[in-house]
Amino acid sequence: MDRTGRPADGADRARAASDLAHSFIVEAAAGTGKTTLLVERILNLIKTGKAQPEEIVAITFTERAAAELKARLQEKIGAETAKASGRAAEHLADALYGLERMPVTTIHAFCTSILKERPVEAGIDPNFAVADELMAGLISQETWDEWIARKMDSDNPVLRLALRVGITLEHMHELAVTISENRDVADLLPAEEASGPHISDFMKTLKTTAARLEKAGGFCHNPDDGALCLIEDLAKHAREVEAIRTEDRLHAYLFGTMGIPSVGRRGNAGNWASKDHLTEVRLELGALKEQHEKVRLLIAHNIIASLSRLLLDYVDSYTAAKASQGLLDFHDLLLSTRDLLKQHDHVRAYFTGRYRYLLVDEFQDTDPLQAEIIFYLAGAQDGRTDKWRESEASPGKLFLVGDPKQSIYRFRRADIEMYAAAKATLGNNRHLSIHQNFRCAESIIAAVNSIFEDLIKVPEEGNYQPEYVALDFGREHRP
Ligand SMILES: Nc1ncnc2c1ncn2[C@@H]1O[C@H](COP(=O)(O)OP(=O)(O)O)[C@@H](O)[C@H]1O
Ligand SMILES: [Mg+2]
Repeated sequence: MDRTGRPADGADRARAASDLAHSFIVEAAAGTGKTTLLVERILNLIKTGKAQPEEIVAITFTERAAAELKARLQEKIGAETAKASGRAAEHLADALYGLERMPVTTIHAFCTSILKERPVEAGIDPNFAVADELMAGLISQETWDEWIARKMDSDNPVLRLALRVGITLEHMHELAVTISENRDVADLLPAEEASGPHISDFMKTLKTTAARLEKAGGFCHNPDDGALCLIEDLAKHAREVEAIRTEDRLHAYLFGTMGIPSVGRRGNAGNWASKDHLTEVRLELGALKEQHEKVRLLIAHNIIASLSRLLLDYVDSYTAAKASQGLLDFHDLLLSTRDLLKQHDHVRAYFTGRYRYLLVDEFQDTDPLQAEIIFYLAGAQDGRTDKWRESEASPGKLFLVGDPKQSIYRFRRADIEMYAAAKATLGNNRHLSIHQNFRCAESIIAAVNSIFEDLIKVPEEGNYQPEYVALDFGREHRP
């Protein structure tokens, strides 16, 4: 036990670093030594002769983290070489020279190397270059400016309606970029629903209800009565709608211009010939409002659905613009690699054989496509995290470390449900949890614990919030 009364995590740390026959997912907060464990595990893989540097892949989140990791490795291997003897010393000395061959890199750079090796099967230009985020952003913006100008010039009806209901060009651009960044799941975009019959039904009901209510209004003797005013508004809408000739104007009117306020307690029974008249009017207005809301929702759904589909044409233009310059953006790298591994069994077999150990730092920031690539390389037939089984041919192949609380999920589509699936797949005894923190002072840790143990809880309805794990003060244990 440590000072805080929690069991010390030494056993889990030791397994993470030295149990090379099993895959693990190590979960822990920042500063607890996750990256250090990853370095130690690589060191042990080398020292025991289980793998050559070029057979070990270490994936980090940024280029900078990759450089740091490589430096840590170099230092550590250097220090160990001096201490080691016999075979271990030989393995370590070889590895020190071979370290350059070890892919310690971001997932994007790693995918680039895979695609450079197999461009033909991947169906891409062998001389492709990578458009970084800045360059991709410029091409995307240029493509958008041209594309939207062209659509506006041709008076595209979908755009016209979207603009009419108040969707701005900025909104459209944002939506276009979002769709482009999620183009691998474009088939999940909503489809348009048949709206014609619903709208014509509503128009009929509107006309007859407005006429009936106007008649009923004759039983009200106070022109300022709240319910009577609603009837007059409605009659006006019914007349205006009748005069509209084009479908987009009609939809824009029904969605945006026309509103039926809640009738609630409006109107005063004293103003009406009988209380029943007012009750009837309120009921009719309420029922019509309900039907109108349904029609509005349907129109909104269809505007978004048709706009999204139109924007896929922008995505095609963006793809063509990149292709004409022989460029792939970051998302293309992931998509092409995933497809390459998915569609070509021999290519997958080649890479799964070649990379015998996969270690991923900051796994919580892995998006579903990246996870798919990692699980394909780990030997999964279908890339599904939840379907992966450690095969006898590659025991201990995966080592994932992460802090589910540090994830910038929305930022890069990282998906905590995917993270939970990966965790479940590896199994309970493959899930190591460490909690001693080596970076902060004890008072900070105590404060952090007291605030977050109440705030961070797994919600009942889903897996999107990680469980709280208290931090332990570990600085004094530092060597
Ligand atoms: N077992 C340990 N004992 C003492 N200090 C450690 C231990 N493991 C890591 N550290 C130190 O803690 C700090 C954070 O380690 P790091 O591996 O970068 O954590 P993480 O990746 O979890 O953020 C580093 O300065 C590291 O040297
Ligand atoms: Mg780290």
